Amino acid sequence: MGPGPSDVNPRVLKAMSTPLIGHLDPQFIQIMDEVKEMTRQVFQTDSQFTSVISATGSAGMETCFVNLLEPGDTAMVCVSGVFGNRMCDIVERCGAKLIRVDAPWGRHIDPLQVKDALAKSKPKLVAIVHAETSTGVLQPLEEISSLVHEAGVLFLVDAVTSLAGVEVKVDDWKIDAIYSGSQKCISAPPGLSPVSFSQNAIDVMDRRKSKVQSWYFDISMIRNYWTGAKRAYHHTGPISMIYAFHEALRIVLEEGLEKRFERHKRYHKILKEGLEKMGFEFVVAPDYRLPNLNAIKIPPGYDDLLVRTRLLNEYNIEIGAGLGDFAGKVWRIGLMGESCSYNHINMLLSALKQIMG
Ligand SMILES: Cc1ncc(COP(=O)(O)O)c(C=O)c1O
Repeated sequence: MGPGPSDVNPRVLKAMSTPLIGHLDPQFIQIMDEVKEMTRQVFQTDSQFTSVISATGSAGMETCFVNLLEPGDTAMVCVSGVFGNRMCDIVERCGAKLIRVDAPWGRHIDPLQVKDALAKSKPKLVAIVHAETSTGVLQPLEEISSLVHEAGVLFLVDAVTSLAGVEVKVDDWKIDAIYSGSQKCISAPPGLSPVSFSQNAIDVMDRRKSKVQSWYFDISMIRNYWTGAKRAYHHTGPISMIYAFHEALRIVLEEGLEKRFERHKRYHKILKEGLEKMGFEFVVAPDYRLPNLNAIKIPPGYDDLLVRTRLLNEYNIEIGAGLGDFAGKVWRIGLMGESCSYNHINMLLSALKQIMG
């Protein structure tokens, strides 16, 4: 019940033990095509290029930036936690100029901040983390997206913690580049990063003057492996991970996206009520609270590490520590995918009652 990886359905573990076939075997190509189609459905997009990067969520982040930015470009990044800061680092490594729009940790980015910043400069893209896992904030993406598009700028979104747990509507919200991770609300093991690009983003990549600085994450080559009639070898596809991801996507779609979002909201409410009865306070204001990552303040007098160690050793429950500014002050309780169940909540609340009295 930490910030990920979440628990994995036994069907996914079983899929991972399927015998290997070649990564260019026609049967495997069929599985890749199904993965692309199901990923499109989960992102709620008809995008021409939706695929999966063979590495964790950070690789999706890096892929989006290195393919869209060239040295000398300007990128605006909305920052209110660890992962927004990480985006800034990547922008600078691309040789691009960085403009930051900051909000204090635990607070949302006010769309007016983005409007003001866009009135002062025209970057190539605006980037934001939809669900900031370090603070438990869900950003008002739709409002920010319309401002970004009014300014004629590309919109890049991190959906690592939000995808398949809360609504993410790539086409309706006009998102140009988006990435996620396999191990959070999709409930597959860590190791893959689904990505999707709009036609505008694909055109920008096609018009690049310089080579993408990363060979491995160069979409122009990855596209030849994942799409088209003739698949070209780029890297060896992570076969067992794709089997697992394929099965996890099937489970997500069998449940249905709306029902899944509703489940995350419902169990968040049960957890919240239980925690508040025990006197815990949430870090984030209710309107911007992420149901699948619950950041709560550690009450005075309790030792962060001691409580988490007892939860782990005596009750077999993992919750997340605070990161950065929140280290030692906040716990992060994940309710993601398979880990978002009544049993998980009951076990955690009972264990906390026994440890904390
Ligand atoms: C919002 C967000 N972005 C990016 C990442 C990086 O993903 P990974 O650790 O899978 O590389 C994480 C990981 O927790 C995350 O929560």
